[in-house]
Amino acid sequence: MAKSESINLTINGKKITADPGMTILDAARSVGIDIPVICLHEATTPEGICRQCVVEVDGWSRLAPACITPAAEDLDVETNSERVVRARRTILEMLGASVDISQSPELKRQMEKYQADSERFPGAKKRDHKVLDDNPFYVRDYSQCVLCWRCVQACADDLQYTYALDLGGRGHDSQIITFYDFPLPETTCVFCGNCIAVCPTKALQDKTEYLVEKGFQHNEIRARRRQERQEKRRGS
Ligand code: SF4
Ligand code: FES
Repeated sequence: MAKSESINLTINGKKITADPGMTILDAARSVGIDIPVICLHEATTPEGICRQCVVEVDGWSRLAPACITPAAEDLDVETNSERVVRARRTILEMLGASVDISQSPELKRQMEKYQADSERFPGAKKRDHKVLDDNPFYVRDYSQCVLCWRCVQACADDLQYTYALDLGGRGHDSQIITFYDFPLPETTCVFCGNCIAVCPTKALQDKTEYLVEKGFQHNEIRARRRQERQEKRRGS
């Protein structure tokens, strides 16, 4: 690549040369600057949904999501200013107040780092969904869903091309759904596991792992599976 095509910008006071096509996040990471993310995953398309990666760009009135903002010539970026830290802390506090993130090590780490107080919004409505257990492979607990969209993308064009998952509802009632909210076995789902692999919380979880965590022994899990198969045969 011709040198003249390189992009020169400043991040946290450091002069950086980025390649064309890089985002601010890519440029920061290329020199070891860490910017936290939630909705971004290496296997899925960045959509700028969570805003946890925001940075402050000199002269810009709004904070910019680093994962989708292209690195550009002469940008002067601060990744850890007071305004940025406050924005990230608030996002975490809103998530902590409305979603069960207790099983997400990454989010717990960020809560600690940004000294986020999950009790800051005591009146917040908590997501409350019963665990969906409608197939032999996965359980879905949308009380733990941060609506990062990764599973939908993995199920669609980014990985599997099966389109079994989508976003439904509005506002606080938004949630990941299947087509017409059908049980997973009645959708196009092929149980590839990609959605589970990209989920940052345990909203989507392998069923055996879920049962082990609930205290079931493996022989009990096998017995339970046999029983489910028999019931299914009798019902069909
Ligand atoms: S189920 Fe998991 S991957 Fe899907 S939107 Fe919710 S948190 Fe993200
Ligand atoms: S990680 Fe950039 S908006 Fe979510």
